[in-house]
This record gives sequence, structure tokens and C-alpha cells, in this order.
Amino acid sequence: MAGVFASTLRPAILAASRTKGLRRAAERLPVTSNVVHRFVPGETIDSVLDSVAVLRDSRRYVSIDYLGEDVTDVDDATATVQAYLALLDALDGRAAGDGVRPLEVSVKLSALGQALDRDGKKIALDNARTVCERAQQVGAGVTVDAEDHRSTDSTLSISGDLRVDFPWLGTVLQAYLHRTLDDCRELATVGARVRLCKGAYDEPASVAYRDPAEVTDSYLRCLQVLMAGSGYPMVASHDPQVIDAVPAMARESGRGVGDFEYQMLYGIRDDEQRRLADAGNHVRVYVPYGTQWYGYFMRRLAERPANLTFFLRALAERSGR
Ligand code: FDA
Repeated sequence: MAGVFASTLRPAILAASRTKGLRRAAERLPVTSNVVHRFVPGETIDSVLDSVAVLRDSRRYVSIDYLGEDVTDVDDATATVQAYLALLDALDGRAAGDGVRPLEVSVKLSALGQALDRDGKKIALDNARTVCERAQQVGAGVTVDAEDHRSTDSTLSISGDLRVDFPWLGTVLQAYLHRTLDDCRELATVGARVRLCKGAYDEPASVAYRDPAEVTDSYLRCLQVLMAGSGYPMVASHDPQVIDAVPAMARESGRGVGDFEYQMLYGIRDDEQRRLADAGNHVRVYVPYGTQWYGYFMRRLAERPANLTFFLRALAERSGR
């Protein structure tokens, strides 16, 4: 089953995640289904703040993502910026931390206009700068998500420009890309905050490892470089093989528990998140919210056969009612 899932179902689900018609139809459903709720706590700022409060009570940090990607219209990019500014205003007074910023937002540059035909890169940079300025005012952080490999050069260039004025900015690297070991070397040298994830898109073998074991090996090589560097590594993975490798790597690099953090997605391995936080580690949870949950949700279904089965069973139960 795992082989069929990886070779056939996963690419099909990821292709569906980018189908505009399906997305529009699905997003019209309110986020009430238990299955979507497991990964996306709600559609509004109030609902996300409720989840943030629960996470903060258990000493976890948070990165909030206002859901949306691939905007094709400059007004939609502007609306995304406004949504982030409203969110950051709502975080004002809750974001203060001692060294580490306990609250941050994650942004997708494609939601800020990166793919627009005219001046997309400049528009995304200006929009991201506006978000970073407000984050700085309220004491929150910002991390730039990684998307499709065709945007990687542009995303890393925009992140580099932003880091000049906002040295605390986080950048996501995807270990499944062949290029990422070199990107890790570069960012580890300049002391950047790097969130290392495996990567969630369906990338061709010409640019990415496709075999799960090879992706994990690449992840561990990349993490070693980040740990040995001068930046702040953010270990974004639920994989026990990765999590178990972290303490020895940190020790060898002379890093204490405050010198890196674990990161996981909302709704995934909650017990493990709590265990790591209870042991005194920095643990940050990525919490998405908003009405445009379709692409994010489909990527979670594509990660694990059990999630797809759970979803299909819930759908069958609803239609049987
Ligand atoms: P892997 O998929 O191998 O899973 C290992 C184990 O973790 C599984 O056996 C299971 O126990 C558990 N698990 C993993 N996924 C699960 C799920 N969906 N449901 C239930 N259990 C699950 N990607 C990207 O391309 N760009 C980005 O910007 C980001 N940002 C990001 C931020 C954060 C904080 C995290 C944690 C992840 C991302 N990702 C991402 C997603 C990432 O690339 C990857 O797709 C997922 O984290 C799954 O990979 P794992 O490393 O968890 O391992």
C-alpha cells in the first residue's frame, strides 16, 4: 500500500491540490468537517487565537499562516497583506518573548504576488516588507515558506533582501531538492534562521529526491550543516528518525536546547509536541487558518495513507446520513 500510495495516489492528490475548479468547490464548504478541522483550526482570527492560547498554555511557540497561495491578481495580494496586518495587530501585546519570538507568522510569497506577470517579484518583496515591518512593531517574527521549486531562486533572493533589514527573518528550505545542501551551507554561513522541512510538492526527479529514504538522508545531511553553522536551525519534521537524531547533532555542535527549535504542524503528533516541550525544548507549531484551506489540506492528505483513509471514511459517513 505504501508503494502504491507514494507512486500513484500521492502525485494524483497533489495534482488535484492545484486544480482551481476543485479548489473553488471545496472551499465553499464551511470548515466544519472534523477532518479539515484536525489540520485547520478555523477560518477567523478569533478561532486561531483560541488555538494559540491552548498551545501557549502548554509552552509551545506558534507560527500562524493565513491560508492562500498562487494569487493571480494584484488586489488579492493586497488583501493578503491586509489580512496579515490585522492578524499581527491582534497579536500585539501577546508576542513579547525573551530572546526567541514566541509568536510569528508564516507567509507564502505566491500569496503576496510573486507569480504576477508584471513585477511579481518586486510586488511580493514590497508586500513582504510591509508584513515584516508590522511584525517588528508588535514583537512577532516572520518566516517565508517554500513552495514549488520553480519559485525557489526568487524566494531565496527575496528572503535575502528582507534579511538585510530584518535579520531575524526565517527562511524555509526543502530537503527533497538536490540544491538544498548548498543552500543550507550558504544560509548557515550567514547565520540565518532556517526552517528545514522535507518538502510537500510533487517535484520531478530532475530536481528532487523522490524516494522517501533518500529524502530523509538528505534531510539529515542538511540538518547537520545547519547545526554546525552560525544560524538558528528549525527542525520542521514529524519523522521519528529525524527527531531522534537531533539531540546528538545538537550536542556535537555545542548547541543547548535554546539554540534550535523543533517545529510541527497543527494537529500532527500533538503528544510528541508536548513531550518535547515538557522536556524543555523550544517547540513551535505551525497553525494555518482562513477560508482557503484546500491546497494546504490536500498536501496533508498526500503525506499519509492514513489521513486519506480517514478523510474518505468521514465523507462516506456524511453522505450516508
Ligand atoms: P514524513 O512525511 O516522512 O512523516 C514521518 C511521520 O510523521 C509519519 O510516519 C507520521 O507518523 C507523521 N506524519 C507526517 N505527516 C503526517 C500527517 N500529514 N498526518 C499525520 N501524521 C503525519 N513543506 C513545504 O514544501 N514548504 C514549506 O514551507 C513547509 N513548511 C512547513 C512548516 C512546518 C512547521 C512543518 C512541520 C512542515 C512544513 N512543510 C512544508 C511540510 C513538509 O515539507 C512535509 O511535507 C511534512 O512535514 C511531512 O514530512 P515529515 O518530515 O513530517 O516526514
